[in-house]
Amino acid sequence: MIAITGASGHLGKAAIQFLLQKVAPTNIVAIVRNPEKVSDFKQKGLIIRQADYNKYGTLIQAFKGVEKALQISTIGVDIETAKRQEKNVVKAMAENNIKHIVYTSMVQARPNTLFQGTEAQYHTEELIKATKIPYTFFRNSMYMEAIPELIGNALQTNEIRYPSGSGKVSFVSRTDIAEAIANVLTENTHQNQIYEITGNRAYTFDELAKLISPEMKHIDIADNLFKEELISYQIPLAIVELLVSMANGIKAGEFSHTSNTIEKLLRRKPLDLVEYLKSL
Ligand SMILES: NC(=O)c1ccc[n+]([C@@H]2O[C@H](COP(=O)([O-])OP(=O)(O)OC[C@H]3O[C@@H](n4cnc5c(N)ncnc54)[C@H](OP(=O)(O)O)[C@@H]3O)[C@@H](O)[C@H]2O)c1
Repeated sequence: MIAITGASGHLGKAAIQFLLQKVAPTNIVAIVRNPEKVSDFKQKGLIIRQADYNKYGTLIQAFKGVEKALQISTIGVDIETAKRQEKNVVKAMAENNIKHIVYTSMVQARPNTLFQGTEAQYHTEELIKATKIPYTFFRNSMYMEAIPELIGNALQTNEIRYPSGSGKVSFVSRTDIAEAIANVLTENTHQNQIYEITGNRAYTFDELAKLISPEMKHIDIADNLFKEELISYQIPLAIVELLVSMANGIKAGEFSHTSNTIEKLLRRKPLDLVEYLKSL
C-alpha cells in the first residue's frame, strides 16, 4: 500500500489522481485530518485514514501496513511547530517499518536559510535520513500556482508589492510535481535520491510583472511595510514572520536554483511559466 499525507491538499490530491492511473485505488491510503474533504476518494475505493500531525497516536494507526509513503510537508504553522509535527510523522513511519519515504522539501534545503520553511524542512530531511529508511526528497521550488497568492491584488492594481529586491524564483508547476511524485512512487530507481525540483529558468519579480502584463510593475516595498500589510489582514504574527522570511529568502536567491530534474522524472518538458501565466 502507498500512503499519502496531506491527501486533502492541492499537491496530495493531484498526486493521488496521477497514482490512480498506475495503482489500484484499494492500494492507496489517503491520510487526512478531515475525511469529509476526500469523500470523492472514498467513493473511488481508496482507503481513508484520519490522522493529525499533532497527534502521534493517530499517525501510528494511519501508517499500519503501508509500504511506501509520501510525506507532504506541513503548512500554516511556525517553525518550531512544523519541526514537531514532522517529527511525529517520521517517527510513526519508522515505527511501521515503511520501506520508502518520499518527502516534499524545499529547493536547496540546508541549515541557516533566511526562509524559515527551508530550515524546518531540512531538519525533517535529516530526521528521515537518521531512520535509515530509503528516501527520495523532492526539494521543490516555489509553485507557479502560488503566484496568485504571492501577488495579492496585483491583477486589479497592476502593482506587485513584494520585498524581493532583484531575487529570482525558479517557479515550477505543482501539477507537474504531483505527476513526477506518482512516477517516483511507482518506480524502483529513486531510493536515496535528492531531487531539486525547479523551473528551467528563474525570474525576478520585475520580470514576472512584465510577463503578466506590460502595465504591471513590481514595487520592492520595505520589509516593515510588508509586515504591516500582512498584519492588517489579521494574519497571526508567527505566520507573518514566516512570510517575511520567505521574501527575505527570495531576495537572497534561496529560490533561484535551476535544474532539469523534473523533465527527467516526467520524461517530457514541464509547464513553462509563460504558458501558466496565460491562465491567470
Ligand atoms: N513550494 C511552494 O511554493 C509551496 C507553496 C505552498 C506550500 N508548500 C508546501 O507544500 C505542501 C503541499 O502544498 P499544497 O499546495 O498541497 O498545500 P495545501 O493545499 O495547503 O495542503 C496542505 C495539506 O496539509 C494538511 N495538513 C496541514 N496541517 C496538518 C495537520 N496538522 N495534520 C494533518 N494534515 C495537515 C492539510 O490538511 P487540511 O486539508 O485538513 O487543511 C492539507 O491536506 C504544503 O503543505 C507546504 O508545506 C510549498
